[in-house]
Amino acid sequence: MDINQLKKEARQKLKKASNLKEIEKVEQEILGKKGALRDILKSLSDKSLAQRKKIGQDANVFKQNFTKELKKKKAVLKEQHWSRKKKEEKLDLTQPGQKLKTGHLHPLTQVLRETEDIFKSLGFGVVEGPEVDNEYYNFDALNIPAGHPSRDEWDTLWVKSKEGDKLLRTHTSPVQIHFMENNKPPFRIIAPGRVYRHEDTNKSHGFQFYQIEGLMIGEDISVANFKALIQEFFNQFFGRSVEMRMRTGYFPFTEPSFEIDIKSKDGEWLELVGAGMVHPHLYKSAGYEERKWQGFAFGIGLDRLTMLKYGIDDLRLLYNSDLRFIKQF
Ligand code: PHE
Repeated sequence: MDINQLKKEARQKLKKASNLKEIEKVEQEILGKKGALRDILKSLSDKSLAQRKKIGQDANVFKQNFTKELKKKKAVLKEQHWSRKKKEEKLDLTQPGQKLKTGHLHPLTQVLRETEDIFKSLGFGVVEGPEVDNEYYNFDALNIPAGHPSRDEWDTLWVKSKEGDKLLRTHTSPVQIHFMENNKPPFRIIAPGRVYRHEDTNKSHGFQFYQIEGLMIGEDISVANFKALIQEFFNQFFGRSVEMRMRTGYFPFTEPSFEIDIKSKDGEWLELVGAGMVHPHLYKSAGYEERKWQGFAFGIGLDRLTMLKYGIDDLRLLYNSDLRFIKQF
């Protein structure tokens, strides 16, 4: 190949090249170490001096020019490449974002937290006790000895264990004893948690539900203090002035005992709380000095509270994890 042919071929190849890779290939083929230009220069030794001079000059000029052309075309292709990329990957900042689906707390948890917040604002601490407990804490220490007829009120789920029979607590009242064993009055606490009963499930009963135990003990804590506290709680929780009534009730661990009903929006009385003045037996169980302390205890049904707040008419909805239901809160 002579230099004129080379020029022609080089320009054709350059013209055809449509991307950077192809350009680089052309560069190699023409100007590279094993390229065509090299071949021509190698063959110069056979030529006459005048020819050598002429071809040598031509080759140099060609090399310079062609290098420039290569560079130019490379720049054009690069520019094309990036503008195409930019178009493809264009970020439209005005496009609406993708909505992330986030969950939320279960209505029972929401009500539990609201309840805790209200009591905390009234100076109460929040404590917990075990869900698997034993007969002593769930019954005996609460003045419900074996054979006591009121044990029937709390149908119990028993658990066999190596350390003897245990049970799933039937109420949160055993936390009163656990706490009193380790703390001296005065104090005010609530103890929320799950409780279990050996019961058939229906609209208003379940084998598991939530209670919030309350306990306030001091030297002169009275029924009046309790009444004011529970009224304040209801008003804050329902966000209105709630009508409530106290009836006498019976629990072996309080004396006197009360049941507290509140009036629903439809004018119906609903039982929500069991309560009373702490029975002296409990002070004894806890090892407190006799006749020095007095106070009240109460147990609120959290599920009922939730049902009332949101107008839910079937307890089971709160436990069957149906998202169509839960999403509404
Ligand atoms: N533990 C009782 C129940 O489950 C409620 C209660 C709590 C009553 C505290 C009096 C004092 O029914």
